Amino acid sequence: MINIPKGTKDVLPDQSYKWQFIEDCARSTAAAFGMKEVRTPVFEHTELFLRGVGDTTDIVNKEMYTFLDKGGRSITLKPEGTAGVARMFVEKGLSSAALPLKAYYITPCYRYERPQAGRLREFHQFGIEMFGASAPSADAEVIFAASSFLQKLGIKDTRLEINSIGCKTCRAEYNAALRKYFSGYSEKMCPVCRERLEKNPLRILDCKEEECRKIISGAPSILDYLCDDCAAHFSSVRSLLDKQGVQYTVNSGIVRGLDYYTRTVFEFVSTAIGAQGTVCGGGRYDGLISELGGSSVPAIGFAAGIERLMLLMENTGVEFPQPPVPAIYVAGMDDDSRAEAFSIVNGLRQKGLCAETDLMNRSVKAQMKYADKTGAKFVAVIGGEELADRAVNIKKMSDGTSQSVAFEDIYNYLKQNI
Ligand code: HAM
Repeated sequence: MINIPKGTKDVLPDQSYKWQFIEDCARSTAAAFGMKEVRTPVFEHTELFLRGVGDTTDIVNKEMYTFLDKGGRSITLKPEGTAGVARMFVEKGLSSAALPLKAYYITPCYRYERPQAGRLREFHQFGIEMFGASAPSADAEVIFAASSFLQKLGIKDTRLEINSIGCKTCRAEYNAALRKYFSGYSEKMCPVCRERLEKNPLRILDCKEEECRKIISGAPSILDYLCDDCAAHFSSVRSLLDKQGVQYTVNSGIVRGLDYYTRTVFEFVSTAIGAQGTVCGGGRYDGLISELGGSSVPAIGFAAGIERLMLLMENTGVEFPQPPVPAIYVAGMDDDSRAEAFSIVNGLRQKGLCAETDLMNRSVKAQMKYADKTGAKFVAVIGGEELADRAVNIKKMSDGTSQSVAFEDIYNYLKQNI
């Protein structure tokens, strides 16, 4: 037997309705906000992620699935959705489309991480990206879209944390302050953070090592270093969220694990799913489009991990809508009856109902057992008598009552009674 690769999951037939529910909620939320679906390749040129996600991030340094293809090109499976959509925006000249351009995607992503609850090597993101809008209302709209999505799923158990990590100008000053602060502790910090101190001190704030966390707790706050424009922007975003009644806390420790962010960053976090508590994260990334060779176009978005949402919903008892079941199972007693049952169910299917019949030449008893397992709402058994009468008793499984119905009326009967 060949096993599934570590850090990946199968979606079994009796579980897929949960995925479909989450995806339906994603699509209907996106539609309500005027977002159109985009699809980009699962693999891209490695350089896209080096430039987009950033070469000082854990994702790029440790987690990418990178390989040379048969033509000798360096290819990477997408570790996240934003860079590919930004690449598409630049390459396809979408800045000349009506702006803001609002896009969404549901995509598999790949990160070579140590698997644990809520952390996989192949996982799926529902993400949205908005290009062209720099106003604080765009930030508020994107956060509101994420919050509406979680609400639609029936998730109550998250808190929203927001922060601003400033623009290039104020970040330079903040980075200098961080370097100064952390260089006093470099002996005590983990080797990775010592390296981060040189290359990108902001990344240190993301370290999970206990000793580093203690040092980080005394570090200067970005909020004290925001320039006037960034501070005003953040303040407007907050008052727009307040007006919408969106609850949040400001957490200056949120810096996100990707380098492209500017200004507003946010996360929806839960304590109900273990160490990997962030179900949704996002923020503004005003420099990415020009970094990828486009003009200067502001952008903002988020992505939510579908497996983490599922885990959260299961752990907190959120009810999924019941999976669909067949409207009817039509059994046949002999070859002629089976042939009739076969044409009856196909007629019902053409009219849009889910109907089932025997495909394994089973006894009527075994057919009924199977019908019960499928959860069929009605069952009917056709034999010689039914063939002669062109009518059959249709039994309602929920209460055991039955009714004789002419073959040609079965569709109407079911439509009226399911
Ligand atoms: P991210 O925070 O790296 O952001 O990932 C977004 C979400 O994907 C996380 O909150 C989590 O739910 C899920 N996720 C990440 N890694 C894993 C994993 N190994 N296993 C399971 N789920 C995972 C981004 O990817 C940005 N592109 C979000 C964004 C869009 N920012 C702006 N636009």
